[in-house]
Amino acid sequence: MKPLGVVTRGTTNPNRLRRVDNWIVETCGDALRAAADPLVVDLGYGAFPVTAVELRARLAAGVRADIRVVGLEIDPVRVAAAQPAADPPGLTFARGGFELAGLRPTLVRAFNVLRQYDESEVAEAWRTVTGRLAPGGLLVEGTCDELGRLGAWVLLDAAGPRTLTLAARPTALESPAQLAERLPKALIHRNVPGEPIHDLLVALADAWQAAAGYAPFGPRDRWTRTVAAVKQAGWPVLDRPRRWRLGELTLPWPTIAPT
Ligand SMILES: C[S@@+](CC[C@H](N)C(=O)[O-])C[C@H]1O[C@@H](n2cnc3c(N)ncnc32)[C@H](O)[C@@H]1O
Repeated sequence: MKPLGVVTRGTTNPNRLRRVDNWIVETCGDALRAAADPLVVDLGYGAFPVTAVELRARLAAGVRADIRVVGLEIDPVRVAAAQPAADPPGLTFARGGFELAGLRPTLVRAFNVLRQYDESEVAEAWRTVTGRLAPGGLLVEGTCDELGRLGAWVLLDAAGPRTLTLAARPTALESPAQLAERLPKALIHRNVPGEPIHDLLVALADAWQAAAGYAPFGPRDRWTRTVAAVKQAGWPVLDRPRRWRLGELTLPWPTIAPT
């Protein structure tokens, strides 16, 4: 089976994906607990496999001990280099692309992979991956900065995109406008007037500014008030204040889908 996709830059870092991994434990945990075979693919783990190692450890600790993670990379050199990290037994590495090397996982995490593709290639990549998931399976596809302080991701199932999550380390956030440069490929070129994602980022920046008086209570408090304000203004925020305090915001995909 020929791997689908192209080799891109392999930039990665320890703990870069901690934010999305913790969200996955919370949001996708039930799907993994219900799965007959708790198989997870980390698609495009990069120059070294540290984020795949961390994903397995977080899912084993937070969801189920018998989780199996397969790190798939389209670059055979990176697959060979990862082999010494294939320990404990629930972690292996193989060559593969969007076709998932014939696997049928319950969860795929693809982070900082599509960013280097063209926007026009996103829909096909999404369809290819979600078409190979196990029944009830999920894809989490997104982008973050090199240290994982700013990120954004889309949750998809076989029917298509379900939600968008924006996530920031509140103590590192100067303005929600910073999230614009970390939007997933499907949205990053749509931050222009007339597009819903632009309206959302403007609404967040305005609400953040209006909450400036709460800055002395700390950035978590300010972000929580910012999210509460955009919800009050009519944005159908999905998650609860407990997640907002972590610097997150999740919305239904149709709310911010490109026009
Ligand atoms: C920037 S690195 C991301 C590493 C890691 N996921 C992270 O977020 O830190 C992107 C990796 O994805 C790989 N890649 C690109 N397209 C791919 C595809 N279709 N299937 C598998 N891997 C792919 C590239 O070879 C590269 O190593």
